[in-house]
Amino acid sequence: MFSLIYGDNYNAVSSEAYKIIRPFIDKDRAVLGLVTGSSPIGLYKKMIADHNANGTSYRHVVAFGLDEYIGLPRDHDQSYWTFMHENLFDGLDILPANIHLPHGDVDDLEAECARYESILRENVIDIQVLGIGSDGHIGFNEPGTSFDSVTHVASLEDSTRRDNARFFGEMVSRVPKKAITMGLKSIMRAEHILVIAYGEKKAEAVRGMMQGDICEQCPASILQKHPNVTVVLDRAAASRL
Ligand code: F6R
Repeated sequence: MFSLIYGDNYNAVSSEAYKIIRPFIDKDRAVLGLVTGSSPIGLYKKMIADHNANGTSYRHVVAFGLDEYIGLPRDHDQSYWTFMHENLFDGLDILPANIHLPHGDVDDLEAECARYESILRENVIDIQVLGIGSDGHIGFNEPGTSFDSVTHVASLEDSTRRDNARFFGEMVSRVPKKAITMGLKSIMRAEHILVIAYGEKKAEAVRGMMQGDICEQCPASILQKHPNVTVVLDRAAASRL
């Protein structure tokens, strides 16, 4: 079931997203599922600002990253490990031992997927933050991914690699072709899901997620089966609803 919240611009969308996530931080042991990309950056800035201004502590927070590129070492400037540290973790007092992300530069990727999925199973995510791809992907679960998928190695669609080229000096050839991602079933285990989308480019994917057929061609449409999804949008992203 979806609750829909509008923001007039990116800052307003980020503020609304922050209002959703903030109460979870007060839990004794908060387990957050976190995403990378442009959509959550404003939210993460607000979390850091609140930590700095009000002393809101993250020492009791456990964080899980949604995905990681395969082939990039953790210290690569475009790894999701680096993204999450630069844009969020380094600005908070979260304990390094409580930060979990898949490793994308290991020899045995299948073992890494199994390792990550097993820690996820031991920790119910209180709130999972998601962005949505223009093709309807969530995490790196591209169209056609099984609704039964758990953490797995995924191939990135050409459209996703083109969308992400902006982080690689506009060079699509530099964008990795594969990633480890939580699967759709892993995502659906979260108690609450928060989707952030802004801009006209996301409008069709947002329509598919909320009003389209529930089908594997639009991975985000699985969220129609989740009892507790909040979607924070600007008017452009909502323009096809
Ligand atoms: C990133 C991720 C992706 C993005 C999606 C939207 O960790 O899992 O599904 O959320 O591609 O990306 P942005 O927010 O950059 O438009």
